[in-house]
Amino acid sequence: MEILATINLLLSFLFFISIIHTSSSSAVYNVVQLGAKPEGTTDSAQPFLDAWNQACRSSGSPVIYVPPGKYLLTYAEFSGNECANADITFQIEGTLIAPSDYYVNANIENWLKFDHVTGVSILGGTLDGQGTDLWACKSNGNNCPSGATSLQFSNSKGIVIKGLTSINSQMFNIKIDSCENVNVQGVKIRSDGNSPNTDGIHVESSTGVTITGSTISTGDDCISIGPGTSNLWIEDIFCGPGHGISIGSLGRDGNEAGVQNVTVQTVTFTGTENGFRIKTWAKPNTGFVKGVHFQHATMTNVQNPIIIDQQYGSDSAHPHQASGIQISDITYKDIKGTSATEVAVKFDCSQEKPCNGLIMEDVDLSCRNQPAESSCSSADGATFGIIKPSSCF
Ligand SMILES: *[C@@H]1O[C@H](CO)[C@@H](O)[C@H](O)[C@H]1NC(C)=O
Repeated sequence: MEILATINLLLSFLFFISIIHTSSSSAVYNVVQLGAKPEGTTDSAQPFLDAWNQACRSSGSPVIYVPPGKYLLTYAEFSGNECANADITFQIEGTLIAPSDYYVNANIENWLKFDHVTGVSILGGTLDGQGTDLWACKSNGNNCPSGATSLQFSNSKGIVIKGLTSINSQMFNIKIDSCENVNVQGVKIRSDGNSPNTDGIHVESSTGVTITGSTISTGDDCISIGPGTSNLWIEDIFCGPGHGISIGSLGRDGNEAGVQNVTVQTVTFTGTENGFRIKTWAKPNTGFVKGVHFQHATMTNVQNPIIIDQQYGSDSAHPHQASGIQISDITYKDIKGTSATEVAVKFDCSQEKPCNGLIMEDVDLSCRNQPAESSCSSADGATFGIIKPSSCF
């Protein structure tokens, strides 16, 4: 009996300890308890920022919990500058909505911004940028504000974005700029096929970013990759409608950092403008693109399944010059399906810095059940396995 009593006492003691431990290591900040209104009409930015500030001051692994409901947030910047915690999770069950009047945020670039943060995870949730009126304004050629990116991480590291849905973004849906080790997983992005500049996920000046298991429908690039990106891994993506997966545009301003070590694999493109694209401005530059693997893709009715375009962006304001961006060591492997135009493979490279080391292996693209064509300009490389259309190197 005495032994049993002792064990009981010991067990309750351990239970007590575990409660203390749990509560101290994962404080939960419920935004509704802090004053957020789940009915979608009252600006709830301040309660979200209050939750962030409290989480930043707490120890352990705090969770900012957003219960089901709709929360209007005019605009919010979560800064890591004063944040002492490097393991904060947003557990979002509700929908965050932006103001529908696009003049409210006419002068801000990002609707929800995380800057200089470390160890932040966003799990679940829906962002509704309410961009449809702005898209209509832009499509009518009016003088409209450029619009805000829905979610930006900048100067940050150790970020997880998992199971997030982004709809109706005014501009880019998600932007990752100057970050290290960012893991984007199982994200769903839906913008209208005609919505201007609504890139799904934009990555630039960042290293160690992975984007996996995501479905992206949009009016611009599903994923766009800007200057200074390295060690990027993209896998298991459905893209369409949209402009495809693009490295670029590069070389618009000044001399810029190169793009290297990028893998994009297991992608389904449906009805997109491009499949795998590299695009550079026709201007001098010292940038480069090297060490890229585009592989295991299915294309259905894609206008330009494989394209390098180094003649981009010349008009009366930008006289056409040879692009200074050097493109080399690009592999296209196991890419099958249909092109919506006759030219399924187009390498239109810089006369001054011709593309080299373009490797094609097992590429099989047709156009309306007819053989497609390929077109090369200043491009050199090699082929392995089945190549349809036949190579133009
Ligand atoms: C290339 O990037 C991958 C991640 O995408 C990384 O695992 C690998 O180490 C990088 N390779 C080099 C040579 O840096």
